[in-house]
Amino acid sequence: MDYADILENAKKRISSNCKVCPVCNGLACGNTMPGPGSKAPGNGAYDNYNAWRKIRVNMDTITAAEPVDTSVRLFGRKLSFPLLTAPIGSIQKQFNPTDDVSDFNEQCMAACASRGILHAFGNGLYRWVWDKAIASGIAHDNTGIPVFNPDTNEHIKELMDLYQDKLQPLAMCVVVDSAGLPHLKTLMGGRGATKSVDELRELKEYCGLPFIIKGIMTAEGACKAVEAGADAIIVSNHGGRVLSDTPATAEVLMEIADAVKGRTVIMVDGGIRSGVDVFKALAMGADICLICRPVLISYYGGGEAGIACYLDKIRSELEDTMYMCGVHSVKEISRRTIRF
Ligand SMILES: Cc1cc2nc3c(=O)[nH]c(=O)nc-3n(C[C@H](O)[C@H](O)[C@H](O)COP(=O)(O)O)c2cc1C
Repeated sequence: MDYADILENAKKRISSNCKVCPVCNGLACGNTMPGPGSKAPGNGAYDNYNAWRKIRVNMDTITAAEPVDTSVRLFGRKLSFPLLTAPIGSIQKQFNPTDDVSDFNEQCMAACASRGILHAFGNGLYRWVWDKAIASGIAHDNTGIPVFNPDTNEHIKELMDLYQDKLQPLAMCVVVDSAGLPHLKTLMGGRGATKSVDELRELKEYCGLPFIIKGIMTAEGACKAVEAGADAIIVSNHGGRVLSDTPATAEVLMEIADAVKGRTVIMVDGGIRSGVDVFKALAMGADICLICRPVLISYYGGGEAGIACYLDKIRSELEDTMYMCGVHSVKEISRRTIRF
């Protein structure tokens, strides 16, 4: 199975809203995927994708022919390359009514376990999603990091207890930008809302684990996350769905890195579609990248094997880019290795 096979298979299973493009860039679907929730009249998905296109990598092959090591460490755990698969809270409404996000989580965690990386899973809204995600995490080498919607702190703490008791994940994450998804607010009985520094600090202290805040788009926001005690931030605009006319994540990454690099782990998502894009993000100050929609397409195209094949593709592209840019380890990737 290669990526072309995965795309062909996915076309047979996925909802017609998704056009299963050779490169997922939001153009053919007009950022209508993932459907409900997007309130952006522009095309933030394309903006995210396009911003990475404007960055070039500096090729330099006059270097020792030594092996390339793509591995990194996250909170003490070794990842074979600097990628997490991104959270998806539901797929029923967006794709097919009969689809089950728990099966996606299961296949994704299995693929991530086999490839030595982690799956940040959307906590979803229903108890059965949480229970199944915990079971998948236990079955697959504890590869799951729960990502909680911005519910009340009381409710998030209950979920933290549940995951702590049964899964003991490597870290826990709260996504703050989902506060801008009207459909989610409705589904959560009106409880989804923005969070103050004090509220986030309370969650960080309560969870007692490395704490990640997803949905940071400014240096000021990153500093507030650090003030709240975030061990990692995810630079993300939710795939360009939560607010129109936000910048692309690649456009804000460097100023955020300048503000908080060394004080927290920096992750980024939004339109990252190749190992070359991962290389660019690392050069701009990210430590880890996340990819969402193409992983879902790979799931539709081949389940666990499809996702594993996609992960292999990203990893080998990163390895090749490092090799061709004269870089042998991830920590050698720097701003010197890219140009604008
Ligand atoms: C179907 C779908 C569901 C999503 N659900 C969640 C979610 O529950 N929690 C969350 O933090 N992000 C969610 N996201 C956002 C992604 O995790 C990610 O931030 C975004 O899609 C950008 O990555 P991409 O350009 O690689 O798709 C969802 C995205 C999609 C496509």
